Amino acid sequence: MRILSLWSLLAAATLTSASRHLPRRNYSTHDYYAIHVSSPASPAELAAHLGLTYDGPLTALDDHHLFKAPKHDNDIVDDAVQELKKRRRKREVAFEPHILDSVRFTQKQKVKPRHWKRNRLPEIQRVDAQDSDAVKSQEAVARALSIKDPIFGEQWHLFSTKYPGNDLNVTGVWLDGITGKGVTACIVDDGLDMDSEDLKDNFFAEGSYDFNDQVDLPKPRLSDDRHGTRCAGEVAAGKNNACGVGVAYDSKISGVRILSGDITDADEALAINYALGKNDIYSCSWGPPDDGKTMQAPGILIEQAMIKAIQEGRDGKGSIYVFAAGNGASSDDNCNFDGYTNSIYSITVGAIDQTNAHPYYSEACSAQLVVTYSSGSGDAIHTTDVGQNKCTGTHGGTSAAGPLGVGTFALVLQARPDLSWRDVQWLTVMTAVPFDQPSDWTKTSIGKMFSHQFGYGKLDAYAIVEAAKTWELVKPQAWFYSPWMHVKKPIPEGEQGLASVFEVTEEMLKRANFERVEHITLTMNVEHQRRGDLSVELISPDGMSSHLATARRDDDAAIGYVDWTFMSVAHWGEKGIGKWTVILKDTKPNGKTGNFTDWRLRLWGECIDPKIQKLRPMPTEHDDDDHDVISSHPAHTTTISLPAGTPAPSTAPTDVPNRPVRPSNAKTNSPSSSPTTAFETPVSASPSPSQAAEAEKENFLPSPFPTFGVSKRTQIWIYGALALILLFCVSLAIYLFLARRRRMRASRDNYEFEMLDDGDEEGGAGTRMLNGRRRARRGGELYDAFAGESDEELLSESEDEMPYRDEGEFNEKSGAGGASEAGSSGSEMR
Ligand SMILES: *[C@@H]1O[C@H](CO)[C@@H](O)[C@H](O)[C@H]1NC(C)=O
Ligand SMILES: *[C@@H]1O[C@H](CO)[C@@H](O)[C@H](O)[C@H]1NC(C)=O
Ligand SMILES: *[C@@H]1O[C@H](CO)[C@@H](O)[C@H](O)[C@H]1NC(C)=O
Repeated sequence: MRILSLWSLLAAATLTSASRHLPRRNYSTHDYYAIHVSSPASPAELAAHLGLTYDGPLTALDDHHLFKAPKHDNDIVDDAVQELKKRRRKREVAFEPHILDSVRFTQKQKVKPRHWKRNRLPEIQRVDAQDSDAVKSQEAVARALSIKDPIFGEQWHLFSTKYPGNDLNVTGVWLDGITGKGVTACIVDDGLDMDSEDLKDNFFAEGSYDFNDQVDLPKPRLSDDRHGTRCAGEVAAGKNNACGVGVAYDSKISGVRILSGDITDADEALAINYALGKNDIYSCSWGPPDDGKTMQAPGILIEQAMIKAIQEGRDGKGSIYVFAAGNGASSDDNCNFDGYTNSIYSITVGAIDQTNAHPYYSEACSAQLVVTYSSGSGDAIHTTDVGQNKCTGTHGGTSAAGPLGVGTFALVLQARPDLSWRDVQWLTVMTAVPFDQPSDWTKTSIGKMFSHQFGYGKLDAYAIVEAAKTWELVKPQAWFYSPWMHVKKPIPEGEQGLASVFEVTEEMLKRANFERVEHITLTMNVEHQRRGDLSVELISPDGMSSHLATARRDDDAAIGYVDWTFMSVAHWGEKGIGKWTVILKDTKPNGKTGNFTDWRLRLWGECIDPKIQKLRPMPTEHDDDDHDVISSHPAHTTTISLPAGTPAPSTAPTDVPNRPVRPSNAKTNSPSSSPTTAFETPVSASPSPSQAAEAEKENFLPSPFPTFGVSKRTQIWIYGALALILLFCVSLAIYLFLARRRRMRASRDNYEFEMLDDGDEEGGAGTRMLNGRRRARRGGELYDAFAGESDEELLSESEDEMPYRDEGEFNEKSGAGGASEAGSSGSEMR
């Protein structure tokens, strides 16, 4: 009898999931609850107990289900759970298992504020002058591939005839027969016109759904539902007689509609990994408002849904997420204030225009991996539009850049279906092309140039597909978490900063099975009366600086950062061993002040031994609730106020990203009042216009110094930046050396230096160690195949001079990696 009922339950569950979709939701009549139900209780039993209606499984996540109740002010589920807890505390009920114990997580669903689409209406002033040789080669390519699409000639992002070379460099990939066959990209957006002549042959209905109207086909229904269709055209417009072609014109394209109506976190979770077994890439050209004052991350259900896709999508290789970087640059916005673009699971794609210039809208941040073409300097992206046979030449913003990345990754996956989500990120880092445009280009430990404005450079479809063909797969992902670093100090206003250091030892990483860094994340808490005043910088052991946060003029929020996680890809390939320094500044001396509470560093990267590496446990809402748990042997932090007059890192050239420099050769739309001139001061070495013109192809420095294949002007930038970094490192070294001497003399209660681990001397038994002096490493050794163009090693030389090797004791236990960080499921429930 028991078995029978279990069996029927199982059958019912299978049936519900087979029916594919949950019953229609109506947010004006009902409340919805997403609940993680653990066995042995069944959702039906739980619904009966709570007086809810069971709607079905929330397929985006394991063991999560959706329930509903008529609209009510209270949170019925949480109230019941809290009530049980209270009665147990008061011993009013016996401690025996209760059905509510099966509630692992519950969240009453709220209608979300709408995401912003990341398109920008471009100013169009088309130049007619074309390069006649380029026109001939473009025609030859079209003939060779029998491309007859009427606007193919206008699709400069595929083949530029006005600025030869300023395109995706994709036609060679097509000529090799790689056109996206067998790969499916899903456009998560405001719909997709599956009836368009240009899209209908590639449209993939099984991967599609409309979460706004809750019907199967994501047909654009509102008058401004054009965005998704335009993005879809960029990826997979067919080779036919309509409009142009997509980057991956033989790939399949599906659409999930979420931007045109009310949705909740549960809906978005369902959308973000919809048809997980069938969609390979999710294209997201939207996000929280790019208004320079929003700081918003995906809710826990959405984050978990993305992680499920990363772990299970593409047969365990991981779904590919592509997010548009955001269009708020002219309002000081930064993609690190957006929890979607700064997720380690998404590839953040920013924009450059047809002259390779930075368009006024494209946001910079340390989480940005790459850029590609979009609107600016008089033209925009030409693609399919809503309608049976309609085209547009005005698709723009970072919205239009993201899908070009998606199309490129579709080509990569056709060439190598076995690549993991991290291999795709690696390939992007290794093959992106830095270009001649002033920015804070900095050479990383593995010899790649990184800029907060342009990531690792622009996508080159040919280069990435060629590299993919012979790419050796990376080992599984490992991670290392530092303990919470308790700073708890007021932040001085102005150029002074508050620095806090955590040293990662070789032993810590070995225990975490951690070989080398890919992403780093830094979670922090800061109390502040004006959030927009704050800036955060992270300096790695190799001396690379990430601008995690930059000041935002419109961000008046009277809170600081609450468990906010920043991300950086600028440390890609570093070993991670040594001192990581966070520098927090209150950049505006305006009387609004605050305190640096705490921070925690996480390194994510490749493991040492794949056999023992586990998958990351699902994060929960309460992962960061252990702030004030002082582990028995607290880690050793030093917090210092940088005295005024010390060359604080803000004066180093790495401060550029929030001050994009207006490129000289571009007609940008940026207002002349934009803060672009600020950084021009340190570059007093800039040549006069006439010198610059004649010296364009020369070496800036004598021949042993490489030119990076860029103009003299950019060389000056690069060398100027490197020289300033060197200067900064040396100054910091001197400063730290003096500080250390002073500290050794000073008593421990000196207010400038806080020693948080007085008890350490006795406690660290078994885990104590002294670090040897770190050897300077050549990043290039790791990746000879991709080693950069030069052997510039200013950074690694200068770092060696730092008197870093004193404080050596750390608690290994708190630096959890692999196994030791496994989530304890009991704490998940509030
Ligand atoms: C929700 O229910 C109300 C009342 O029955 C109805 O007027 C409304 O159209 C429904 N909305 C949706 C989206 O079904
Ligand atoms: C573009 O692709 C071609 C092959 O079609 C390749 O030879 C070239 O190196 C690539 N890159 C550039 C910048 O042209
Ligand atoms: C910073 O800490 C001080 C001392 O604890 C406190 O008085 C002040 O209110 C804090 N500032 C903020 C913005 O929370």
